[in-house]
Amino acid sequence: MTAPTDAEQRPNVARMYDYFLGGCHNFAADRAAAEQILSIFPDTGVAAQANRHFLRRAVRFAAEQGVRQFLDIGAGLPTQGNVHEIVRQVAPDSRVVYADVDEVAVAYARRLLPIDDRTVVVRADLRRPDELLAHPDVRSFLDLDRPVAVLLVAVLHFVTDAEDPYAAVARLRDATVPGSHLVVSHLTSDGAPPLPAQRGTAVYQRSSAPLVPRTHADILRFLDGYDLVEPGLVPVAQWRPDGEPQQRVSHGYGGVGIRR
Ligand SMILES: C[S@@+](CC[C@H](N)C(=O)[O-])C[C@H]1O[C@@H](n2cnc3c(N)ncnc32)[C@H](O)[C@@H]1O
Repeated sequence: MTAPTDAEQRPNVARMYDYFLGGCHNFAADRAAAEQILSIFPDTGVAAQANRHFLRRAVRFAAEQGVRQFLDIGAGLPTQGNVHEIVRQVAPDSRVVYADVDEVAVAYARRLLPIDDRTVVVRADLRRPDELLAHPDVRSFLDLDRPVAVLLVAVLHFVTDAEDPYAAVARLRDATVPGSHLVVSHLTSDGAPPLPAQRGTAVYQRSSAPLVPRTHADILRFLDGYDLVEPGLVPVAQWRPDGEPQQRVSHGYGGVGIRR
């Protein structure tokens, strides 16, 4: 037997999320940390599913509005209903760039997703938007003179205020043309009981990224410069429910803006 690598020993937020979604791309350390979260917030798996449903509806909305380019930052491990599968139901010629900072997530995505002339996976860090935008695959795949839907779904809460996520999001906004979409979902501290919330963030302190829940007002600031589409920034399960069975549990807010 080989000794576990560092990557396997340290809980990793991408693989913990995979475990919450019922996936199998996770190691013992990820499962142990995820189980700790589930012991504090037993509905975390349901909330993760609700977040995926939000992503599906928001991506479909962008495709139906005519957007044909998608930049999914913090894309995570492949799961059911990946972005390229959603958009191709509306517009088969759409291009999708999956980006993630985590090397294991990127490796799995490259292995499991159909990499072709319309889909690519890059390793990139949201905290370094200039490098992300300059990545050769991003440059060759996306025409920034045409609208792009930038997806920041359940990723901004892994970027601390000290790392200035607002500047990163503004940089991405400024790189895109009017008519581009920004899709945001974000864990919230609103209404969370303080003690369990502290225990939850303590688990993430020992993982690959700290967890930074934010208030509604602070999450709304990410959408500065965008016109928020109805119903605004709301609990993810309440964003344009489309008749499919909805998971009612929201641990965060979701919203879509269209660049002015
Ligand atoms: C909870 S998962 C969300 C996956 C997917 N977006 C979704 O909502 O279903 C968060 C993902 O963000 C990635 N991530 C965390 N910090 C990041 C950063 N600074 N840049 C890019 N990706 C990041 C993690 O590796 C992980 O895959």
